[in-house]
Amino acid sequence: MMPPRPLFVKIAPDLGRRELDDVIEVVQGVPLDGIIATNSTLGRRGLSTGSTEAGGLSGRPLRQPSTEIVRYLYAGTRGRLPIVGVGGIFSAEDAYEKICAGASLVQLYTGLIYAGPTLPHHINTGLIRLLRRDGFAHVSEAVGCAL
Ligand SMILES: Cc1cc2nc3c(=O)[nH]c(=O)nc-3n(C[C@H](O)[C@H](O)[C@H](O)COP(=O)(O)O)c2cc1C
Repeated sequence: MMPPRPLFVKIAPDLGRRELDDVIEVVQGVPLDGIIATNSTLGRRGLSTGSTEAGGLSGRPLRQPSTEIVRYLYAGTRGRLPIVGVGGIFSAEDAYEKICAGASLVQLYTGLIYAGPTLPHHINTGLIRLLRRDGFAHVSEAVGCAL
């Protein structure tokens, strides 16, 4: 028999507080393994040039909004459900920001396009430095520390 596969729900960064509250309520009542926050955005805030291009915007302009959503979900679920933080991660500092906001894992996409396949290595070594600086022995100790 196949082992059960973990089930995650991935949410958009364009949800308002009420919609996020609905997500928090629903995810706690179903057998879910975690939340991935966030997908790319339909918004165009944070761009120095206006854009009317269709499609989802990823990368740096998404970093802060997605971190705020991670923080909100972590507080709302009281840390009981793993959160995968994603959106605008280009450095160890960016990954650490997501972890401190409540992410147990991080994911990146756009950063790889700009920085290439060595980026995860740089992020991992940078994370070790940041964890040591703040007195954490393991990344799990830092999850949600900035709440
Ligand atoms: C070209 C491209 C394709 C993507 N395709 C998917 C997809 O098929 N499914 C999905 O859940 N997210 C998809 N995403 C969203 C990314 O997984 C990620 O959530 C988002 O880009 C924010 O992270 P980033 O700023 O590190 O790119 C895609 C993003 C990009 C840029």
